[in-house]
Amino acid sequence: MIHPVLLCGGSGTRLWPLSRKSYPKQFARLMGDESLFQASARRLSGEGFAAPLIVTGDPFRFIVTEQLAQTRQAPQGILIEPEGRNTAPAVLAAALWLAESDEDALMLVAPSDHVIPDAAAFRAAATAATPRAKAGDLVTFGITPDRAETGYGYLELAKGADAAADTPQSLARFVEKPDEARAREMVADGNFLWNAGIFLFTAGAVLDAYRAHAPAMLDAVGRALQGASCDLGFTRLDAGPWVEAEDTSIDYAIMEKADNLAVMPYAAGWSDLGGWDAVWMESGPDDQGNVCSDHATAISCEDTLLRSETPGLELVGIGLKDMIAIAMNDAVLVAHKSQAQRVKEAVTALKARG
Ligand code: GDD
Ligand code: MG
Repeated sequence: MIHPVLLCGGSGTRLWPLSRKSYPKQFARLMGDESLFQASARRLSGEGFAAPLIVTGDPFRFIVTEQLAQTRQAPQGILIEPEGRNTAPAVLAAALWLAESDEDALMLVAPSDHVIPDAAAFRAAATAATPRAKAGDLVTFGITPDRAETGYGYLELAKGADAAADTPQSLARFVEKPDEARAREMVADGNFLWNAGIFLFTAGAVLDAYRAHAPAMLDAVGRALQGASCDLGFTRLDAGPWVEAEDTSIDYAIMEKADNLAVMPYAAGWSDLGGWDAVWMESGPDDQGNVCSDHATAISCEDTLLRSETPGLELVGIGLKDMIAIAMNDAVLVAHKSQAQRVKEAVTALKARG
């Protein structure tokens, strides 16, 4: 049995103005009829999967229960972080919670904001990776890189490992978010995969890794769980010890340091929707390369994304090429597609203005 652990505490700024602090992208209907969170929960359900364990922040607790109910799922637990301290403490809290009933519980840690179109292929990969995780390794999922992306982790395959295998392979090391020169070298080298940000391990194995590489965090989060209060199915971690835990990701705190790493190569399609350019690409552009939502019309446009998120607000583009226009009821973004990564600067600029 695999226990899905869904992380949904982050607030992506690169998909502003759709993604907001109070309503981050994972809960929005970004692609299709479901939110990315609902699609993630559904992907990790069915035979061989337990009900999901959710780790999130207090403002999102009812969005989580409501959206899960819509997909006819009930969580096995919802851990509420007193404040977001990145993924290392979040994963640790989930591991400790699961280990209370079973040290050998297999946990599949997954972000809730990715697009993985072939759910059956992904479940098959997770199942194929299970023996390796049960043996005590920390299994990552690896994607063949196609550019020198600096926002990802890179997985160096061990000697003799096969990046195209359909079984888990050994890893030499994990490099989180390299600088551009390093990223270029690793892509050119050919012996590296991107870390998809999805992990499979037993609660016991990952707790051993925290014991070895982040003992202070293990202590703080352990006390936060001991002091947790439970109401209406929510487990509220104790804020006092929780804020003692270092604010860092599992990639830096554990993966870069561990020596029992493996990778399950995954080639059936993955995107972390890291910007509006990725949303455009994943949405299946039409023959002219355009993607238009309801209430959006493209006239003589090419390779352009037009989205109106407001019923009754018509958005029309004429003669545009490589443009992005997103119209909400209180904010409009118009940007060149090549500058899509700079959308986070809009959030910073608006914050500074108060
Ligand atoms: N519960 C909770 N609490 N979830 C969080 C928190 C937190 O404090 N911080 C982030 N998350 C969630 C995010 O919502 C997202 O779903 C996931 O954890 C990963 O966090 P990101 O902030 O999106 O990480 P990243 O994209 O910079 O890097 C990770 O993902 C890349 C692939 O998309 C790393 O694992 C990289 O190595 C990887 O390549
Ligand atoms: Mg991410």
